Amino acid sequence: MSGNHTKNPNEPLGPNKSVEFIEPPQDSASLRPDPKNLFADGAPSERALRALYRKSVISVNDFSREQVVSLCKLAANLESVEITAYHPLDGKLIITAFFEASTRTRISFESATLRLDGKIISIPEGGQTGVKKGESLEDIGEMFNAYGDLVIMRHTETDAIERIRKGLRLPIINAGNGTGEHPTQALADWYALLKWNPGLAEEAPITEPLSLGILGTPGSMRTVKSFLRLALTFQQHIKSVTVISEMADPLGEEMGEEIAAAGIDLKTTNDMGKYLPTLDVIYMNSIVCVGDHYSAMDASYKLNKDSEIKKGAVILHPLARLDELDRSLDNTAHNLYFAQAHGAAFIRQALLICVLGRLYQLPNDIKLSE
Ligand code: CP
Repeated sequence: MSGNHTKNPNEPLGPNKSVEFIEPPQDSASLRPDPKNLFADGAPSERALRALYRKSVISVNDFSREQVVSLCKLAANLESVEITAYHPLDGKLIITAFFEASTRTRISFESATLRLDGKIISIPEGGQTGVKKGESLEDIGEMFNAYGDLVIMRHTETDAIERIRKGLRLPIINAGNGTGEHPTQALADWYALLKWNPGLAEEAPITEPLSLGILGTPGSMRTVKSFLRLALTFQQHIKSVTVISEMADPLGEEMGEEIAAAGIDLKTTNDMGKYLPTLDVIYMNSIVCVGDHYSAMDASYKLNKDSEIKKGAVILHPLARLDELDRSLDNTAHNLYFAQAHGAAFIRQALLICVLGRLYQLPNDIKLSE
């Protein structure tokens, strides 16, 4: 184990100060798996985390499996302690530029930053920047170089990330680009699953590999696409993937080829009743971004507390929800979606600490392996 993370400029609250451990909230019957389960048997890899320094995150394919597991373990540590006193992002300035509506992603990134004692320039309505006058994203990227240390951007258009990167030399985190990807949502999804079943963090297949079900259309929904793409890095733990969609070809060519190449047993169907009772993990979504407006897709697949859901199965939903996910499920042990949303702040803390190079400012009670 390496303990001091190389250097600690934060002497008064430095490595010898013991951290204050906190307990997860238990405010309903919804699942709130204890984050300590995830790092009890192994520390995050310092080497894997350090490799994220100054790296942009555009797709889940920007992470190795070791990095995903290590980020989840670091997030579990951060979720277990009072971290603010260590000021991990002291002096760092983050720009959140949202050209599309958001509740969770922008606010959890901003909460994560502020709890780590970083600062935020928040642009909740990107349309009020120079784009309103016709300014290009490339020029806005050039301006951002002088204003902050990291950019987090959401945009309605899939190619917006590549456009701003033409002018930007800071690292950028994709917070959702059109129908493209939402990589930090997928991190939050798998962070929730790894806390629920810490065996998923191991190389050896879990005793009972999972049947994953998707109620949605990965080809059109960026959250579902990123979730499924990241699932491929956990393929030894997955028995099958069943995509339940109103569309005839819900995956699109690219995703279909990726899943086939991973050798996962894949079914696509529009018959929810047949497959629902077989699923261990159900990932659902219905809101899709279509240009500058939203529409509902696969909204005919609705779940409530009387649905034939397997005992022990969990539901993930990136939220916001419409009526496909009934509130009667909120107070049941199928509800992993609130833990998924709450945990997002901690996985985003972990990512910000790594991309901004502040692992050394963590307390020594947070152990990293070589
Ligand atoms: N999950 C998610 O992306 O939610 P927001 O649209 O509220 O950010």
